[in-house]
Formats: sequence, structure tokens, C-alpha cells
Amino acid sequence: MNIFEQLKNKETKLAVVGLGYVGLPLAVEFGKTIEVIGFDVKESRIEDLNNQYDETNETTAEDIKSAKFLEFTCDPSRLKEAKFIVVAVPTPINKNKQPDLIFMQKASETVGRNLSKGAIVVFESTVYPGVTEDICVPILEECSKLKCGEDFKIAYSPERINPGDKEHNVTSIIKVVSGMDDETLDQVAKVYEMVVKAGVFRAKSIKSAEAAKVIENTQRDLNIALINELAIIFNMMNIDTRAVLEAAGTKWNFIKMMPGLVGGHCIGVDPYYLTFKAEEIGYHPQVILAGRRINDAMGKYIAEQTVKKLIAAEKKVHGAKVMVMGITFKENVSDIRNSRVIDVVNELKDYGVSVSVADPLASKEEVMHEYGLELVDYSKDLKVDAIVLAVNHKKFVDELSVEVIKGHFDLGQGKGVLVDVKGVFELGEFDSKEVLYWRL
Ligand SMILES: NC(=O)c1ccc[n+]([C@@H]2O[C@H](COP(=O)([O-])OP(=O)(O)OC[C@H]3O[C@@H](n4cnc5c(N)ncnc54)[C@H](O)[C@@H]3O)[C@@H](O)[C@H]2O)c1
Repeated sequence: MNIFEQLKNKETKLAVVGLGYVGLPLAVEFGKTIEVIGFDVKESRIEDLNNQYDETNETTAEDIKSAKFLEFTCDPSRLKEAKFIVVAVPTPINKNKQPDLIFMQKASETVGRNLSKGAIVVFESTVYPGVTEDICVPILEECSKLKCGEDFKIAYSPERINPGDKEHNVTSIIKVVSGMDDETLDQVAKVYEMVVKAGVFRAKSIKSAEAAKVIENTQRDLNIALINELAIIFNMMNIDTRAVLEAAGTKWNFIKMMPGLVGGHCIGVDPYYLTFKAEEIGYHPQVILAGRRINDAMGKYIAEQTVKKLIAAEKKVHGAKVMVMGITFKENVSDIRNSRVIDVVNELKDYGVSVSVADPLASKEEVMHEYGLELVDYSKDLKVDAIVLAVNHKKFVDELSVEVIKGHFDLGQGKGVLVDVKGVFELGEFDSKEVLYWRL
């Protein structure tokens, strides 16, 4: 078995199953040098990609065009042409915050039904340790009638891309690879080395690679939770958290983190994969879930602070006009899924506040579909009682000055309130007689 050589010589193909944030950039990179089949179940996505349009903005039309050997398809039988199949489908949580493995199971069925003898199947989706071997392999075997280890091999290689970040991408991040045996690991490592300039790290086992991915995001989640808790304490003491972090950050081993809302489909989700597995085997995680609780409560906390500032500014809370700027789950992306800004919006609405939301990057249709919210066009003339600057999109940072913010407040009618979640402004930039400024 030398699939690496076969791919290089175009004697076989590589297939990517699931062309989202993770799958597409990978398919594009491989498609520059080897033959690639990009498969997705969503017909509209395939149609868009055939027109070189990527709605996630992770690749440009030029990038897609440069992948000369990449074909997009909705036809699962095309997977039979591939000896190296990468699966990058979603791994969300359900409303009870438990892993929802349906996409992994369905993708495994599809791959199984179209699996060629001698192929390697590599899972890239974020999972808890054991999903690849204990859940996906039996489905692959059942649907293919082939035997894992004899007729086909499996591997796992987690993805570390960071949407909206052009610096850390598929080629520039070290890629962890693992395989069911030494031969598979070697093949998988060589295949990824074709595109990952930063190189690969050969993990000791599939389970250790699965665990490594899930703890990377768990660690980040907990570090942010600590800073969020500190921000709550310092706020009660009237100490500016950012000033504290700046001072503490001068120590060589202080981990630099900022307080904020933790949304998206990675950091706020992956820890639940680990806690689910831990509970299944009889251990009740405490620290990990405490961090989750703190981070999940930050939207409510920010809304409460906004209400307190409105009262301090002598505004009537019921009916107060508040503009929330930014609805995406983080800066400079259009993705609104699992954004925690919605918690701020909903909590403010519970207080009877009239909330408008502006975000130049988010799609109006998606925001309406996902949250039932009508996005307003951000206009400099919009007059409000308070602004919650929730997401620090570059566009906001570039366009918002002290004067622009002040222009939104009717200063003849008392003070305006600015809640600067991401600390875009510095303390003291606003005249406290005009604007009540608060940052997390
Ligand atoms: N987005 C990130 O920043 C990121 C980073 C690292 C890891 N991950 C992990 O990578 C995995 C994929 O995430 P994503 O953000 O790319 O998801 P996504 O939602 O952007 O894309 C997934 C794609 O898979 C397709 N799909 C679903 N079921 C399918 C099936 N049975 N067969 C073929 N295609 C199918 C969907 O139509 C969609 O286009 C997840 O496990 C995620 O946790 C994501």
C-alpha cells in the first residue's frame, strides 16, 4: 500500500467529505497538486463552489480556481474513485449540551457504502476520544462489508484552523496526525506533508490525537472563564480589568487572555464532548463545567451591566433604545451560529429595552432565520440611549471614533451609555459628563 505515491502520480484520488470551514480550504490546498473530489450533501453549496463562491469567506474565487485538480460533487458514488478519504463534517451539541454525532454517523454510512478496498479513511471532525474507533469504524465495516485493518485503514487528524484568521491556516499550522498502525500513520503523515508547510506531528494513537484536539479548546475555554470571573470581581471593586491584565501580562509566564463572550462552534462546544465522555465512564468533571457555566452566563451579565448604566444615566429602562453592534460569534467573520451576543439581546429585551442590532458582516436573511431578528443598516444618524459594542469587527474599529459614538446619543437629553465589551476604546477617552463608558 503506497497511497501517497499513487496520489502523487495521480493513480488515485483524495476525497474530502464535508466542504465547510474545515473541508473546503483543505480540498483547495490538495487540489492544487493532486486529484481531489470535494463531496458535500448540500446541493446549493456544490452549486456555489462550482461558481467559485465560498459563503464562509475562507477561500476566494482565485483560491478555488487555483485548485486545478479539484472537482465538486453531490454524488456519493464518486467516493469510490478515492483511496484517501478525509471526513470533515460538523460535530455539534444538542439542546441538552450533549454530543450530536448524527453527521459523523451519516458520513460514515456514505463513505462505507462507497469504500474501495485498500483505502484510508481519515476523520478530521472534533470528537471525544473513541469516536473514530468505537463509533465510526463499526458503521464503515457494516456499510462496506469490508474489515478495518485488513481491507481498509483508519486515521484521525484534527483541524486547528481559526476562521477569519488569514495567518493561521491549513498550510501554516502544525497538523497532528495519527493512524491505526505505523504504516497508516506514515502514509497519512506524508500525504498531509504535501500541503502543510508547518509540518505534521505524529501522535502516538488515534485516541490521543482525538483527546489532544478536544483539550486544546477546553483549555482555552477555561482560561477565558477565569478571566471572565476576574472581570466580574474587579468590576465589583471598580478596578479596570484590562489595566490589571496589562500589568500582570508583564510576567513571563502569565497567560494573556481577554474577557468576553465565548461563542462559535468550537470553544463553547468541544468541552461538552469531553465532559460527556467523562460522565459516561463515571467521572463528574467539575472545573470544566464550572468554566462553561461562567462563559455561558456572560451575555446575561453584560446585559445587566447595560441596564445598570442606563439607570445611572437616568434613562428609563423600559423602552430605552439600545443598539447592539455585532452579532457574529467573533470579529471579522460572517458566521452567526452559536453567537452569544444573542444572550445580551434577549436579556435586554426581557428588561423591556428596545434593541436594534447592526452587523455589516452578517447576512440579514440568516440572522432572521436563526434568531428572528431584523438587522438594521448601521447608520451614523441612528439615535439611541446606549450602544453595546459587542464584536470588534475591523470595520467597526476603523470607523468608530469618540465623535461617531457621541453622534448616536441625544446629548441634550442626558448622558449616553457605551458598553465596550471588547475594550475598543481606552478609559478616559469619553467625557464622563456626556458618556457613561463601561468596559468588561
Ligand atoms: N470551523 C472551525 O473553525 C473548526 C476548527 C477546527 C475544527 N473544526 C471541526 O471540524 C468539523 C467541521 O466543522 P466545520 O466548521 O467545517 O463545519 P461546517 O458546518 O462549516 O461544514 C460542514 C459541511 O459538511 C457538510 N455535511 C454534513 N453532513 C454531511 C455528510 N453526511 N456528507 C457530506 N457532507 C456533509 C455540510 O453540508 C457542510 O457543508 C467539526 O467537527 C468542527 O468541530 C472546526
